[in-house]
Amino acid sequence: MGQVRFRSARTPRLRPATHLEEIVRERKARKPRPAEFPSILSSMRLALYEPDIPQNAGALLRLGACLGVPVDIIEPCGFLLDDRRLRRAGMDYLDRVDMTRHRSWRAYQAALQGRLVLLTTSGDTPYVEFSYRPDDNLLVGRESAGAPQEVHDRATARVAIPLRPGLRSLNVALAAAMVLGEALRQTDQFPVGRKGENQRT
Ligand SMILES: C[S@@+](CC[C@H](N)C(=O)[O-])C[C@H]1O[C@@H](n2cnc3c(N)ncnc32)[C@H](O)[C@@H]1O
Repeated sequence: MGQVRFRSARTPRLRPATHLEEIVRERKARKPRPAEFPSILSSMRLALYEPDIPQNAGALLRLGACLGVPVDIIEPCGFLLDDRRLRRAGMDYLDRVDMTRHRSWRAYQAALQGRLVLLTTSGDTPYVEFSYRPDDNLLVGRESAGAPQEVHDRATARVAIPLRPGLRSLNVALAAAMVLGEALRQTDQFPVGRKGENQRT
C-alpha cells in the first residue's frame, strides 16, 4: 500500500492560508486508497524555485506523482498552495505526490542532499550530454524570471534544452518533463522496468 508523505522542512506543519495538506488529508479520509498503488519513489528529486504560476506547479506535482519523483517546493510561492488553479492542474494526483515545502532557498540548501542540477536557458551543457546520478536534484526556475545568479552559482551543473535561435524558453513544466525523462532513463529509475516489474520497492 502506498503512502502519501507530506513533509515540511523546518516549517510548521500548517501555515495560515496554505491548506494543501488539509485537503490531502480530507481526500484520503473520504476515498479508500487503491490496494495496488505502489509506494515506489526515485532517489532523484525535482525542485521548484519560488514557483509563480499555480497551473505549472500543479502539472509538476502531477508529474512527480506519476513518475514517483519527490517534489521540493522552495517558497515563497506566487500563489497559495490551496489555489484552485493548482488543484485543477494537479487533480487527484496531488494526494499521491511526495512533496516537501521549504520556507526559503536557504532552508532548502540546508536540507539538500546530492548534487543540484539547475535547468536554465543559459546552461552550458546540453541536457542530453549530462551524466545524471540517481540522487540528483533537478531544479527549475520561476516561469517569470528563471533562477537568480546565486542559484546558478550554487548549482553543481547548469543544463539547457537547446532551442531554435531566437526563441527564448519552454514552459517550465515541459522543460522539467524533458530533463526528468532523460535523467530517469539514464539512471534506470522509471517506476516500472523494461520487464514490466517494479525495480524499486
Ligand atoms: C519560462 S523559463 C524562465 C524564463 C526566464 N526569462 C529565463 O530566461 O530564465 C522557466 C524555467 O523553465 C526552465 N526552462 C525553460 N526553458 C528551458 C531550456 N531551454 N533549457 C533549460 N531550462 C529551461 C528553466 O528552469 C527556467 O528557469
